[in-house]
Amino acid sequence: MTGGAGRPSIAETVQITDGFLRHAGRDFLIVFYTALRSLKLYPIENDQVQKALDDLAASTKHLLEVEKELEVRLQSEFIFVNSTRLRLDLDNYASFSHILSVFRQCGVGAVRIDEGVDRRQLQIFASLLLSYAAKEASPSVTLELGQKLVDAGVSFISIEPPLETEEDMEEEERQKEAAKRTYARSVAVTKEVINSIRLGRTANVKKVKRAVQAIVDQVLNNEASLVGLTTLRDYDEYTFTHSVNVCIFSVALGRKLGLSKLQLYDLGIAALFHDVGKSRVPLEILHKQSGLSDEEWRIMQAHPWLGVLTLFGLRGYGEIPYRGMIVAYEHHMKTDLTGYPKSVRPRSPSIYSKIVAVADGFDAATSRRTYQTVPIQPDEVLKEMLGNPRRGYDPVVVKAFINLVGVYPVGTCVILDTYEVALVHSANPDVSEIHRPVVRIVATHDGAILHPGFLADLAQRDAQGSYPRTIVKVTDPLRYGINVGDYFV
Ligand SMILES: [Fe+2]
Ligand SMILES: [Fe+2]
Repeated sequence: MTGGAGRPSIAETVQITDGFLRHAGRDFLIVFYTALRSLKLYPIENDQVQKALDDLAASTKHLLEVEKELEVRLQSEFIFVNSTRLRLDLDNYASFSHILSVFRQCGVGAVRIDEGVDRRQLQIFASLLLSYAAKEASPSVTLELGQKLVDAGVSFISIEPPLETEEDMEEEERQKEAAKRTYARSVAVTKEVINSIRLGRTANVKKVKRAVQAIVDQVLNNEASLVGLTTLRDYDEYTFTHSVNVCIFSVALGRKLGLSKLQLYDLGIAALFHDVGKSRVPLEILHKQSGLSDEEWRIMQAHPWLGVLTLFGLRGYGEIPYRGMIVAYEHHMKTDLTGYPKSVRPRSPSIYSKIVAVADGFDAATSRRTYQTVPIQPDEVLKEMLGNPRRGYDPVVVKAFINLVGVYPVGTCVILDTYEVALVHSANPDVSEIHRPVVRIVATHDGAILHPGFLADLAQRDAQGSYPRTIVKVTDPLRYGINVGDYFV
């Protein structure tokens, strides 16, 4: 393209660089993390270390070629690369938190890497960081480390101490970030536990307890931040994100229904483990693409009581998790007992099971899974849960749930009468306006995708007293090339 007309505008250029930095910056941190880890585990001659250092050098070179400078800065819980804040998500969670803690331990607030840096300097820097990270943190450590870099002839890398004030971080942002970390950690812990159970190893239940406590605390503090994250469902790790989502929904729902904090802990653990019996169902059946045979369904439907058995076998629980067992056993029973396992005698499922059943039903129906490639839209799911008694949910619990997530739950993709496409950002606090949430417009009427888009309160009327924007229908965001997760990070 030649001439001024073809050039991107300044705003576009900013967006392009921003996108580049977000990817290249993230890649850089991941290779940096790999280098740190392999240097820690193996001697320098090791192939893995050599490969990691090659990757690190290549990634640094690539960034410097485009950006001419490279600065990695920590601010509060965030990592910035050349002033672009990197997004934390499930696959970079481990590397980001590791780098955060190594930098903190070494008293490093920012690292500057300039053109001319080579593989050797990067290696010395990584090794020095490792040796300082192992020491007690002290205020003089930054100076010492800086001096060591100079002594070793590392002239293209310099470090700075952390900024004194971190108060400029907005409280809301901070909470969002904390919620995201709780979420990512819970998924990691759940994965660890379920995998150990599957392999017949001892599972670390204490970690699960801590993760659930963090979820309860966060829900009690700021419900919206964590509940909003349950929209990040598009991961392959359905089993684990599903358990965490059900846990978050259940705790938030339990709170609405007036449970005490201790009860919420119990409920949270029970919810997280509601499908634990699936760890005894063969993976071929669990992940099967096409319809299950009768025999396979029978095995799938055994997961409630297999869950009870598994919970019996979990060590480190302290007390026997009766509540968890009941929930694992009852969560598919339905209020009229037409579900499974079949009950021989009349019984009334516990309130814990009814809560988990609603959370479970909603999350399962709105997710994309192996045997359900198209998720059903959240509002349809809620309508069905409330309106169809054969689904067997407790209507009081479903109503409380709708009250919690709104008729259009956060993250729902909607088409407006202006032909714009929007994502639900938050429910309208006024119940009489429950059909008019605050949305983020993410695509213009002619289909151009906006990022980050802008917020619009659908309950707001114009000067004539009419609503400028109204939801017409719910749609599948993928049809518009919209990745919901991108707007909630
Ligand atoms: Fe289940
Ligand atoms: Fe489930």
